[in-house]
Amino acid sequence: MSGETMETMKKELLIPRSAIEQRVRELAQEISRDYEGGELIVIGVLKGAFIFMADLIRCLAIPCQVDFTRLASYGSGTISTGQVVVTKDIEIAIEGRDVLVVEDIVDTGVTLSFLVDKLRGKAPRSLKVCTFLDKKRRRKVPFEADYVGFTIEDGFVVGYGLDFDERARFLPDVYVVTE
Ligand code: IMP
Ligand code: MG
Repeated sequence: MSGETMETMKKELLIPRSAIEQRVRELAQEISRDYEGGELIVIGVLKGAFIFMADLIRCLAIPCQVDFTRLASYGSGTISTGQVVVTKDIEIAIEGRDVLVVEDIVDTGVTLSFLVDKLRGKAPRSLKVCTFLDKKRRRKVPFEADYVGFTIEDGFVVGYGLDFDERARFLPDVYVVTE
């Protein structure tokens, strides 16, 4: 039985794996050009970004070191309420380094604006954000990512690392949940 048939959530295909693969390669090329000759520290936001980050860094033409952070926002399910806490901090020192934060999706912008503020306090040389998906129209706080895989409309999406109550992260394509 394939992964897809094991996941019974009602959903519709939004971004097939072939399109994801191509877009990830394009993003990696753009990032590699922008940081040519340098070395990146790539910080993945757990858990959602782990698949995107793994694919992205393997397409980079420049060296990188990796680390992870994990944030929690109060409230569960599909609504984030605005209170963010760090539940796992980064472990690599980023002072004076070029840092790229990799996230699965920007929705209200609350999580990433909080994280970017926090990381700026550690005095990196530069700090940019790459997000796989961007729901631009749902911002509650102003936030612009530097690299965006796909801009999508409102609707809850799963797959390629993104979950709905911990389900469907493992799916290789991205779907919109329909129930
Ligand atoms: P924000 O703080 O509202 O921008 O929310 C960011 C976080 O909410 C993301 O890192 C995801 O974990 C989660 N999230 C927002 N929209 C979706 C979605 O459509 N599918 C899965 N997770 C989502
Ligand atoms: Mg996330």
